Amino acid sequence: MTPSTAALWRLASRCHSLPCPMWLRWLVELDNPFTHTNRARFIVETLALAPGMAVVDAGCGPGRLTVPLAQRVGPDGRVVALDIQPGMLARARQKTEAAHLGNVDFVAAALGDGKLPACHFDRASLTKDLSLEVSASD
Ligand SMILES: C[S@@+](CC[C@H](N)C(=O)[O-])C[C@H]1O[C@@H](n2cnc3c(N)ncnc32)[C@H](O)[C@@H]1O
Repeated sequence: MTPSTAALWRLASRCHSLPCPMWLRWLVELDNPFTHTNRARFIVETLALAPGMAVVDAGCGPGRLTVPLAQRVGPDGRVVALDIQPGMLARARQKTEAAHLGNVDFVAAALGDGKLPACHFDRASLTKDLSLEVSASD
């Protein structure tokens, strides 16, 4: 994989529904130093989270936001991390385990499949989900 292949995917994903491939997960995990508003810290702060909240991280990818979200809501809170790619979920799970977080549930599904647990969410993150299509059922 080369930077030009990554650029090609970014371009193509603007016109077609192409989930970010696993081999490009480094691009997602990179907290872009040039775009302040894309950084995990900024996004999580913007959500004004409080301990005990329930959050859905839709299209969680490799868990860039899942970990700080789970840390912010604390052990009494809950994060549901959903992604259509099992490889991305595996990477996100690996990170939450490394951070000793036990308050994250992982759901392998597309948003709109109706697989989210029927519960109340205080916040929802749909960040950098370039190809994500949301249906009314979720
Ligand atoms: C570019 S990554 C962003 C990851 C994370 N939100 C972040 O900001 O770091 C987009 C993720 O959305 C997932 N995705 C795309 N379409 C989806 C859908 N319809 N339902 C669930 N996940 C989806 C992809 O598999 C990919 O892991």
